[in-house]
Amino acid sequence: MEFIVKKAPPLQHKTACLVLGAFEGKLKTPLLKELDQALGGTLAMATKNQEFSAKHRETLLLHPGKALPAERILLIGLGKEKGAGQDRIRQAVGAAIGFIQAKKLTEATFDLGSFALKGLSLEALSQAIGEGTELAAYRFDRYLTENLEDLPPQLSQVRLLIEKQNQAKETELGLAHGRAISRGVMLARDLVNEPGNTKSPEFLAEQARQVAAEAGIKCTILDQQELQDQGFGAMLGVAQGSVRPPRLIVLEYSGENGDARPIALIGKGVVFDAGGISLKPAEKMDEMKMDMAGGAAVLGALFSAALLKLPVNLVGIIPAVENMPSGSAIRPGDILTSLSGRTIEVLNTDAEGRLILADALTYAKRFEPRVVIDLATLTGACIIALGHHATAVLGNHDGLIRQLIKAGESSGERLWQLPLWDDYAAQLKSEVADIKNIGGRPAGTITAAAFLKKFAQDYTWAHLDIASTAWEDKGRPYIAKGGTGVGVRLLIQYLRQR
Ligand code: BES
Ligand code: MN
Ligand code: ZN
Repeated sequence: MEFIVKKAPPLQHKTACLVLGAFEGKLKTPLLKELDQALGGTLAMATKNQEFSAKHRETLLLHPGKALPAERILLIGLGKEKGAGQDRIRQAVGAAIGFIQAKKLTEATFDLGSFALKGLSLEALSQAIGEGTELAAYRFDRYLTENLEDLPPQLSQVRLLIEKQNQAKETELGLAHGRAISRGVMLARDLVNEPGNTKSPEFLAEQARQVAAEAGIKCTILDQQELQDQGFGAMLGVAQGSVRPPRLIVLEYSGENGDARPIALIGKGVVFDAGGISLKPAEKMDEMKMDMAGGAAVLGALFSAALLKLPVNLVGIIPAVENMPSGSAIRPGDILTSLSGRTIEVLNTDAEGRLILADALTYAKRFEPRVVIDLATLTGACIIALGHHATAVLGNHDGLIRQLIKAGESSGERLWQLPLWDDYAAQLKSEVADIKNIGGRPAGTITAAAFLKKFAQDYTWAHLDIASTAWEDKGRPYIAKGGTGVGVRLLIQYLRQR
């Protein structure tokens, strides 16, 4: 997709579709009045008939005929101006792009001025438009071979009209940022949507290697032998039921001087979670190809951070395994010795995410990180607690959690904090090992985090349970069905706001 920034009066611009933003209760702006006049009162008529009141994501399509050079004019509702932020724009733009693609158009023009929000810089606005456009146009069609002509054609050109030439630079910068972030999100989505049969731990490692090479990131892969030599007992325990061997993917991006302590990002990389011997039910088991969404988010975030040249040192750690039942799989009751030396009684082999994360959290220590953030599709209980509208955040440092929550607001990837009081640790007490891997039914998301906390004692740490947000089953304005790529925009926002 090509973006062009141009100084031009919108109503004199020739395009297949001119998109104008409109705020609820503010339909008498000079531009909309001019439009109404040119169209002989059509807009006033439509609003009077209550066909359009600019509610968020509401659309009105007008055909100006010979009255204006644009073939179509699409009004997109932005809702009430009060309380609007970046994500309002992203969603509205996403809805507009969906509409435009459904009409099989391949080119469109946005009038930037009509989307302007009080308190939102031109750069932030352009970033939101870039993201909304790219992410709404995303689809996973790698495996479709038939009826391709029925799919909407890909958008080839999007123009952004500005009022004054001196706005061009900031607009282009914001667009470039939005697109760099979108590339990380789309990479994560592609990886999550990839089916389990092609997505082995080795495949993930190979993808990471390629992305790292493209973006100038250092990439080290530990294979099964190295993991054995170093003592990744918890991770290897999970991996042993699969014929496909595990990999530990380690990425290092340096955007500031060499000895500045890094921020470590850890992502759960279970390429398929059948549950192991504690086998999952058949219904929706297919969705468990998304159990590496945390790992995908970490790879996507490092990719975007490198494209943006963020001035920070980052380490990405992705334990990649497959959780399968087989004659060689771990059994309920088995005791594993983790990389930390702590022993773990495995009472349910389906609580595998925390096992591989335990070793990854221990491994992170050697980088002397100033902050560690892990992302994982860790518990079904997270969906019960929050539905699909927020990621759960827990950790051992309130300041870090506050910063992440703030980043969630503007990125549109919202977080909600759950408590992590010491009291919950009691549920993980084992008679025969240092800890057990399940804490019973009460507070499933919290006890999973309480398990991780044991392995994250030595640094500032936050855990994001993205089980609720990594997979979309209905489709939203800029999030198609399937992998959402959640975490990438949040992490980039967190890193940029620091
Ligand atoms: N990957 C799942 C969690 C999950 C469930 C993610 C649904 C996304 C959607 C995880 O490995 C798991 O199986 N967790 C168990 C833990 C339980 C055995 C303590 C769960 O949530 O049931
Ligand atoms: Mn599981
Ligand atoms: Zn899992």
